[in-house]
Amino acid sequence: MSTLDLVIRRAHVVTATDDTRCDIGVAGGRIVALGESLPRAAREIDAGGRLVLPGGVDGHCHLDQPMPAPMKMADDFASGTRSAACGGTTTVIPFAAQAKGESLAAAVADYHRRAEGKACIDYAFHLIVSDPTPTVLAEELPRLIRDGYTSFKIYMTYDDLKLSDREILEVMDLARREGAMVMVHAENSDAIAWLTEKLLAAGRSAPAYHAAARPAPVEREATHRAITLAELVDVPILIVHVSGGEAIEQIRWAQGRGLNIYAETCPQYLMLTAEHLGGPGFHGAKCVCSPPPRDKASQRQVWEGLANGTFHVVSSDHAPFRYDDPQGKRLGGKEVAFPHIPNGIPGLETRLPVLFSEGVVKGRIDLHRFVALTATNPARLYGLYPRKGTIAVGSDADLVVWDETRHAVIRNDLLHHAVDYTPYEGIEVTVWPALTLSRGAVVWEDGTFRGTAGSGRFLTCGLPEPARGRRVAARIWE
Ligand code: URP
Ligand code: ZN
Ligand code: ZN
Repeated sequence: MSTLDLVIRRAHVVTATDDTRCDIGVAGGRIVALGESLPRAAREIDAGGRLVLPGGVDGHCHLDQPMPAPMKMADDFASGTRSAACGGTTTVIPFAAQAKGESLAAAVADYHRRAEGKACIDYAFHLIVSDPTPTVLAEELPRLIRDGYTSFKIYMTYDDLKLSDREILEVMDLARREGAMVMVHAENSDAIAWLTEKLLAAGRSAPAYHAAARPAPVEREATHRAITLAELVDVPILIVHVSGGEAIEQIRWAQGRGLNIYAETCPQYLMLTAEHLGGPGFHGAKCVCSPPPRDKASQRQVWEGLANGTFHVVSSDHAPFRYDDPQGKRLGGKEVAFPHIPNGIPGLETRLPVLFSEGVVKGRIDLHRFVALTATNPARLYGLYPRKGTIAVGSDADLVVWDETRHAVIRNDLLHHAVDYTPYEGIEVTVWPALTLSRGAVVWEDGTFRGTAGSGRFLTCGLPEPARGRRVAARIWE
């Protein structure tokens, strides 16, 4: 065994599959030994029998993503990764977004500049493909996939991002050829535009009408269409930020037919309902995200989907817009009509404590599933496993010691993002990370951030597991 830099003693190690009590030996930022009575190391941490889980992998968050002016995201790679680390997340995967008419490679280069020297934990990039031109499809995207950008998001809504069905087929076909993962934002754009027009014409412009403009059938139809297109192409896809039963039914139907459909949900669909968009005055804008949170029955359906394996990933979809800010929810300094409110809510730091408290402590999911949903599965689906997402010899020493006696009421002033609110203000959690380690270095310890901007490394991703070694039958036209 190489000389140890660090030993974490008396750890209760739980992974997606195993439950062990042992010491963890770390050298060069990686786990090199799991065993009893490991030799002394330069640094020693006594976990005292507390739970030690793999650091979280947040496979869907937005940091410093370029936005049409005057909109601006509050979190850059410094504040976003700081906040993530304080909540037990040690890898983030935000999005290098292509603007229509622009090169995808240029978007990636720009995004690297934005991240450079700022992150305190490791990070990879997904791509957002908004303009799949022949050059993008034939040259840029295949090259980027081979260079380690192996997953990309496509949108079925938002005028500046959405793809036609024909474009979706082209992008999915390329993903199949190259073994990449397609993440789909599934909402029917024309239906939303039509409903929005009707609502505004009737003078209904308050934040609460955001939910009325994007009802469940809008998401259900697009989810079904995305599944159908993926079936035609014969490619695995992942439906992101699924909000409730109607979309879940489509996903389960597809999974029941043997299709490789993966699904993600987010804490907002477990904790919020459309009623939160109708808060006093303009405050409902704080919970405007797409798809919108729905109702109590939907929350129950999402919990069921987490417990029965329909969902593979729980991500934050952290989209950090300040509330009281002309670059944020009060765009241009006004209480704008709902279609102009920047979409998205913050959640990087609260994702794990909220899911642990509401899911594991309340007996809705077990600890193995918690780890799978928040660390192991995103690492597998985005080509980072086993370097990330588990506790094993050879994996990076991204570890979280959990304090299960820590009762805390979430308040925004306790969080470390640059957003001026949390939608979870006042919610009680019963666990919080006591210690977060990123490649063996302490980034969060007993309530204090100890990370260093710039110590986080960029990760190139391997091929997503669903695509690896996949034997695909030739289609009739091949
Ligand atoms: O409302 C949301 N979810 N905003 C973030 C962007 C996206 O579509 O994920
Ligand atoms: Zn989305
Ligand atoms: Zn998102």
